[in-house]
Amino acid sequence: MKIAMIGSGYVGLVSGACFADFGHQVICVDKDESKIARLNDNIMPIYEPGLDNLVKTNVDAGRLSFSTDLAASVKGCDAVFIAVGTPSRRGDGHADLSYVYAASEELAGAIDPKTVIVTKSTVPVGTGDEVERIIKEANPSLEFAVVSNPEFLREGAAIGDFKRPDRIVVGSEEDWAKDVMHAIYRPLFLNESPILFTSRRSSELIKYAANAFLATKITFINEMADLCEKLGANVQDVSRGIGLDGRIGAKFLHAGPGYGGSCFPKDTLALLKTAQDNESPVRIVSAVVEANDLRKRAMGRKVIAAMGGDARGKKVALLGLTFKPNTDDMRDAPSIAIVQTLLDAGAHIAAHDPEGMEEAAKIMPEVEMVNSAYDAVADADAVAIVTEWDAYRALDLQKLRSVMKGKALIDMRNIYNQAQAEEAGFSYSSIGR
Ligand code: UDX
Repeated sequence: MKIAMIGSGYVGLVSGACFADFGHQVICVDKDESKIARLNDNIMPIYEPGLDNLVKTNVDAGRLSFSTDLAASVKGCDAVFIAVGTPSRRGDGHADLSYVYAASEELAGAIDPKTVIVTKSTVPVGTGDEVERIIKEANPSLEFAVVSNPEFLREGAAIGDFKRPDRIVVGSEEDWAKDVMHAIYRPLFLNESPILFTSRRSSELIKYAANAFLATKITFINEMADLCEKLGANVQDVSRGIGLDGRIGAKFLHAGPGYGGSCFPKDTLALLKTAQDNESPVRIVSAVVEANDLRKRAMGRKVIAAMGGDARGKKVALLGLTFKPNTDDMRDAPSIAIVQTLLDAGAHIAAHDPEGMEEAAKIMPEVEMVNSAYDAVADADAVAIVTEWDAYRALDLQKLRSVMKGKALIDMRNIYNQAQAEEAGFSYSSIGR
């Protein structure tokens, strides 16, 4: 199969490299000339474990290439994937579809007949209809199909998730387009990944419903964690106790500082907007969004409380800034609200993150970025573990404590335990324990 990927961001690049690895002929397109130039030099625009090797192997094998020329790239393709960004629109929280529609317009005059246009970007229900309308209007005699194929990969585990998905969802109104999608994903059937064919609208909604449900699970356990703290219960036991029930499932029940990232915050908000526009309220999702927003600042207050209720003139060390480990992505990271709360209260902040400091420095210029966890805690009154990077899982707590001024350790990912921390001289607080 010959495939073009429009948009070489997270989803486009990972999907393109993985499709090439399956043996398909793939060209990844992006308007950003410097990004394409760097990709041609095997420099990745994002940090994702294994991606540089995967790209190099497939470029060397002649299956993967990069271009800024959309029209030339889509010629002769069986399928063209739209994987451009759909950020939250400033002001109203709706998904911004301008990149999707601009790509559709360009495609209308460039694709060959019988090309399948696949929306891989997360797009609100009805976007496929609009993409179809745009192309039909510009090129009325062209035979083509617009298919929805949402992507469920997680950052930091993107290649594994793409190659061994729990399921592949394809929303298509045309049988011939389903056959093309079936052929594209055939290599995955060896891993027994089921492919689910639905209508285009159902497929579009599946992506939002999945993300909103997972965000709900996280927010539910986070609220249980707060309750555990009040009641003297342990959220990890509660999580395990409910997660072993097959109807509930153990995943996405880790209490923490709140969810962040490029998907959950944006997609829950967009789902809310769609629901409002259609006068069909999703009250649970609305409560989830509110609870998660409030939680992030509450985490900042937790740090202040651990220092005795006053942050003015004190130094706080933050370990981990990205919204989760194994990524350099800072989008909607809980650390942003935590930093703001601490700065508002007059604290000085030093931080370390294995991959995210360059990006973080742009968002939080007041924070002093340092090269190691031990440097961050020097003379600090409190240290908070915000992201559960492996590098923070086996810290020498005695050493950490010995270079600090104060003794507050706030473990927002429940990596350590009370006994361990107290033995090293810390006064320890965690989430829901
Ligand atoms: C998510 C979805 O998992 C993925 O299917 C979708 O395609 C994109 O959005 P991602 O944002 O990369 O993926 O990360 P994920 O691992 O899902 O974590 C999202 C956030 O939830 C992180 O901030 C993480 O720390 C938090 N989280 C996750 C928890 O707090 N507890 C959990 O149990 C799981």
